[in-house]
Amino acid sequence: MKIEGLAALVTGGASGLGAQTARLLAARGAKVAVLDRNASQAQAVATDIGGLALTCDVTDADSVQQALDAARGQHGPARVLVNCAGVGGAHRIAGRQGPMPLADFSRIVQINLVGTFNVMRLAAAGMTALDPLDDGERGVMVNTTSIAAYDGQMGQTAYAASKGGIAALTLPAARDLAQFGVRVMAIAPGLFRTPLLDELPPEVQTSLGGSVPFPKRLGQPAEFAALVAHIVENAYLNGEVIRLDGALRMPPR
Ligand SMILES: NC(=O)c1ccc[n+]([C@@H]2O[C@H](COP(=O)([O-])OP(=O)(O)OC[C@H]3O[C@@H](n4cnc5c(N)ncnc54)[C@H](O)[C@@H]3O)[C@@H](O)[C@H]2O)c1
Repeated sequence: MKIEGLAALVTGGASGLGAQTARLLAARGAKVAVLDRNASQAQAVATDIGGLALTCDVTDADSVQQALDAARGQHGPARVLVNCAGVGGAHRIAGRQGPMPLADFSRIVQINLVGTFNVMRLAAAGMTALDPLDDGERGVMVNTTSIAAYDGQMGQTAYAASKGGIAALTLPAARDLAQFGVRVMAIAPGLFRTPLLDELPPEVQTSLGGSVPFPKRLGQPAEFAALVAHIVENAYLNGEVIRLDGALRMPPR
């Protein structure tokens, strides 16, 4: 699908990987709606790229539907959805303090997995009703999982389960939507230099980067955004998760 002129939705677009993706898609001529629960940062990115900022919580059905309706009203029907909204969190399943609070597990799964699915299902309903483009294509979705889906570390049961869920639904969602010409892909990033990791001291960042086989550094959000753009453009990519990690395999801790 040619990016120029398309309407695109980017959740988590106010920061990190999502913000960089919003910037690249806009630079390639897409009309980009930045969906995020952080209103001020979403507005800052949207203003920068001539896009639209929409405050929403991906876990809330009404909130996302309203955001999608507003995006459609301004930009027309979206053919591209990039799901980057997500949260981390580390807590061992049990320890001296007792069991991990169930609410901690539920919160991470709710935002990362249920939130991603919520936006997918609502965006898919819009895409399936559109006229097909060349090749019969109507739309494409790119979700963000993590290498923690495969090599989750200690303390990552909730995060790994949430990201494993996103990886696992990629193929069945692509199969569900194949008859409509809507593709579903996912990217599993390794360690990327986003605000989350930027907060760590430089020596810790260097040491984390040094654990990557090659290139021996953290990933750059621009490298993530470039893969999203390629997925949008390459119609034969469908139903698969792509690791983007410099061959990193995370150790237990
Ligand atoms: N940075 C990395 O190294 C890395 C590695 C693997 C996977 N990921 C995944 O990539 C995605 C983006 O990560 P990032 O590093 O850019 O993080 P980030 O914190 O910079 O950005 C995440 C954005 O999601 C938004 N968000 C969180 N919960 C939301 C909700 N309920 N509704 C709407 N918006 C919400 C936040 O406000 C924020 O703007 C996440 O899903 C993360 O798990 C990141």
